[in-house]
Amino acid sequence: MEERGLKIYAPEGEPKMDDKVFFNKEMLENRDLSLIAAQVFFEKIDIEDPNIGDPLTGTGIRGLRYAELGDLHLNDANPNAVEAVEKALKENNVEASVENKDANVFLSGKPGYFHFIDVDPYGPFTPFLDSTARAANYNSFVGLTATDNSAPTGSYPTVCERRYGSKPLKNGFMHETAMRIYIKEAFQNFARYDKCFEPKFCYQFKHYTRVMGRVTESKKRTNKALKNIGYLSYCDECGWRKLERIQECRHCGSEVEHAGPLWTGKIADSRFTEKMLEKIPEEWESSKDILEKVHAESEIVTPFYDLHELASRHDISVPKRDKVIEALDKKGYPVSRTHFGPTGIRTDAPIEDVIEVMNEK
Ligand SMILES: C[S@@+](CC[C@H](N)C(=O)[O-])C[C@H]1O[C@@H](n2cnc3c(N)ncnc32)[C@H](O)[C@@H]1O
Ligand SMILES: [Zn+2]
Repeated sequence: MEERGLKIYAPEGEPKMDDKVFFNKEMLENRDLSLIAAQVFFEKIDIEDPNIGDPLTGTGIRGLRYAELGDLHLNDANPNAVEAVEKALKENNVEASVENKDANVFLSGKPGYFHFIDVDPYGPFTPFLDSTARAANYNSFVGLTATDNSAPTGSYPTVCERRYGSKPLKNGFMHETAMRIYIKEAFQNFARYDKCFEPKFCYQFKHYTRVMGRVTESKKRTNKALKNIGYLSYCDECGWRKLERIQECRHCGSEVEHAGPLWTGKIADSRFTEKMLEKIPEEWESSKDILEKVHAESEIVTPFYDLHELASRHDISVPKRDKVIEALDKKGYPVSRTHFGPTGIRTDAPIEDVIEVMNEK
């Protein structure tokens, strides 16, 4: 098979658990955007021949996409995958070291070594966080994929509590709550090693969430960033929400629900995503579309509103999203679309103004 001009050895069709080697072509955007993010990071740190680690490489495609950026270190516990990787390296004329170990063993043997680690497992990334934090250089970049979204989106709250030590909430913006739980988990794991994980570009798409951030070894920076770990308050009566722990809804006075602990800061850095936008090829349309949306909403922290949900809750006919955005913008509020869904808006406007504008449209 081929992806962006690179040849790989993978089974055709939908991925199945009994495939000899795992490949999911549906993760194209994940690999595209990771490559662009890594390019932006490496341009910033200016290290000659950075070390790049792909501890769960499958066919090797992820690492192959990064081949131009530095020294590749690929690994997979499955011997069939290693065989496919060796063949793909030859076919594409790329050099890399290839290992056949458990990912934690592979990473633990290389403390502080990697300038970029891409953790792309089945399900949660939590089993690999500790060794990733140790293997990450004092100035590095880390990408984490999670496909266990049903737990932190609240379908399995006990699994979420067990795996992430956080309480989820199942509501209209549950995917954002899940992302904030994922970022919190990454941040805390790095913090144990006095390393600060700062999210640079995070998004949710299809069945997965991707968290990418810069890692810097600094007690001071980590201490400062601790203020971004907190709780979310949500009123199920009126839809009010805030990234703080508050007992009473500030809109209708009802008792509120809480989710967390979770990340209460930004989910992307607009200066970083701006650089990514400069680099991404025009023809990578679906990847560019995600990036543009995340960039547009990156400076607004209040969890997004689903206009359909808010309209039905307040007995309003569903207004056109662009009209609501235009009206809130006219009122002087930060407002944007959101990559989380086609009927969502993100704004720091008080809910009273959102409802008023929706009533007018
Ligand atoms: C989701 S696939 C990786 C897909 C690949 N990153 C890509 O972009 O195409 C997960 C891979 O991790 C490997 N794997 C699962 N558990 C592992 C472990 N504990 N250590 C090393 N490899 C593991 C599997 O054999 C599989 O190839
Ligand atoms: Zn309320």
